[in-house]
Amino acid sequence: MENKTKHLVTAALPYANGYLHLGHIAGAYLPADLYARYKRLRNENIIFICGSDEHGTAIEMSAMKDKVTPKEIIDKYHFANKKAFEDLGISFDIYSRTSNEIHHKTSQDFFLDLYNKGLLTKKTEKQLYSEKDKRFLADRFVEGTCPICGYEEARGDQCESCGSNLSPLELINPKSKISGDTPIIKESVNFYFPLESFQPKLEEWIKSKKNWKSNVINYCQGWFKTGLKDRAITRDLDWGVKIPLKDFEGKVIYVWFEAPIGYISATKELFIERNEPGKWKDYWFGKDVKLIHFIGKDNIIFHALVFPAMLMAHGDYILADNVPANEFLNLEGGKLSKSKGHGILVKDIVKDFNPDVVRYTLAANLPENKDADFSWDDFQTKNNNELAAILGNFINRTVVFAKTKFENKIPARNTKSDDILEDIKKQSKVVADCFDNYRFRDAVNETMNAVRMANKYFNDNEPWKEIKSDKEKCANIINNCLQICYSVAILISPVLPFTSERILKILNCDKSNFEWNKIGDIILKDGESLGEDEILFPQLEIKKEEIPAKKIIAEEEIDIDYFRKLKLRTAKIIECEAVPKSKKLLKLQLKVGDKKKQIVAGIAEHYKPEDLTGKTIIIVDNLKKTKLMGIESEGMLLAAKKDGKLAIVAPETEIEDGGEVN
Ligand code: 2FM
Ligand code: ZN
Repeated sequence: MENKTKHLVTAALPYANGYLHLGHIAGAYLPADLYARYKRLRNENIIFICGSDEHGTAIEMSAMKDKVTPKEIIDKYHFANKKAFEDLGISFDIYSRTSNEIHHKTSQDFFLDLYNKGLLTKKTEKQLYSEKDKRFLADRFVEGTCPICGYEEARGDQCESCGSNLSPLELINPKSKISGDTPIIKESVNFYFPLESFQPKLEEWIKSKKNWKSNVINYCQGWFKTGLKDRAITRDLDWGVKIPLKDFEGKVIYVWFEAPIGYISATKELFIERNEPGKWKDYWFGKDVKLIHFIGKDNIIFHALVFPAMLMAHGDYILADNVPANEFLNLEGGKLSKSKGHGILVKDIVKDFNPDVVRYTLAANLPENKDADFSWDDFQTKNNNELAAILGNFINRTVVFAKTKFENKIPARNTKSDDILEDIKKQSKVVADCFDNYRFRDAVNETMNAVRMANKYFNDNEPWKEIKSDKEKCANIINNCLQICYSVAILISPVLPFTSERILKILNCDKSNFEWNKIGDIILKDGESLGEDEILFPQLEIKKEEIPAKKIIAEEEIDIDYFRKLKLRTAKIIECEAVPKSKKLLKLQLKVGDKKKQIVAGIAEHYKPEDLTGKTIIIVDNLKKTKLMGIESEGMLLAAKKDGKLAIVAPETEIEDGGEVN
């Protein structure tokens, strides 16, 4: 064990100021877990590290907004996220947190090491300072008028109205978001990390990474082209890891400097828990260690460039062997918003559905090379047409056959091995190759191909016929199928760990032979009793109106430009009639300024045609033409809906048709 390659697998430390959603899982945590579980089955030496990222202005700001302490925020989300990961079967060896003492100490030592080497430069810069709050006002702590567009509530780092990047000093009439105080300009000293000088070394290092994903390489090349710049690594904030130097009270280490050091602190903590406190060094300074960072694409710069440069600067530490970053996951075709937590929350979906179905749907559809999409239709299809129809079916038909025809025992075999077992073993090598090369979508597909092969074997050998003509032959077939059930339990376990356990229970056996290399072997003994059969994947029928749909239509924020694309206008109803054979539709003739148009609206259950003629309403004027029940519709009227009631939206006082609404 000790001489083997060690795998040090990390997954990005999620911020402890929001709940995890499926986008996070598909980005980093599921692929990392698939990899870790697979490596463990191969008896590889592997540790899988994660934890909460608990500092930064966003957390301090959330705390202020909710009028609680940052500690209350991070406790709430740390424990909620830890549980969500567990419920989804994400098998970290440790889920630590950056607020732990050991992390503060580790980060401070790291900082001091670079400081003592003379690598950090000090810069004096003008910053906003509130005398009332007795603090500097970093990015989000100040608000003012945008110098570009005049929006009055622009943030210190960005104007939400025009999208411009700003610095607090550019704001006109800045105010503290804490107290409303008008800040003054004061000088402050901060430390910079000399990233620019590391560019040649980083370029060379990245060049040697032939097997990295092209999205990661391209991203780094992009940065090299622009030229890496030195980065401020301290901030004038309260919440965070304090700078371990005199005269720097009231300042902390920048969250993106200390968070990746969290991987090191968590490793230390893991081995303290395991009573081998010095062992973390075997990983971080070891020769034969593969450090692998699983992340989403928004974290590439920190894991592929900044953190490696920090480690180079410190010296001794190993550098990443790979950074298999994923693209983003969309939801029903729309963007998920990580910072705002819009999307399907892990804690909710695992309550309503089998976590393995969630894992499977995501794993089969990971955004490995391009953005991918999660949809409830696909979720249902994956459950019904793949997990139930292929996997559940094979296990079920095998054990039910053994139960009814062989007294729920494993029938005796009379061959040493069979082609089918060899084939399954061969297929396990195909799957292994996918896992080894971070091709998880392919791994899922090839895993299911193994189960397809098993079903084909069952079909082709027709045990239901053999039982009547040649019981011994039938026994052999079913014995093979049961051996395959055990193999399948191993094969699927990285993706479907909970189902794998259930299969073992159905087979009534333990994990003593639960290893990747035993896939295709004869493990189950003749004559042993089986357990109780169960349906692994009951059919799902997800109705759009029900819970999951509500969860996905979490409102996405849009910017003003997006809204302005909608051309809303007042329109006068000149004529209105029912659409024949439709309970819901009315056909309306409208006058919109000097235009006429026809629209079809689903309001017949709420309005009579004669009540509408003459009314002025509001329509979306630039909607693409469509046909409803064969009738052309050139727009859409606005109506409010709640609890089964519907009311057309209309101007509050008389106004002519053709008026713009905004
Ligand atoms: O993007 C994020 O969610 C960060 N909290 C990731 C940090 S990863 C590592 F550096 F700790
Ligand atoms: Zn602006």
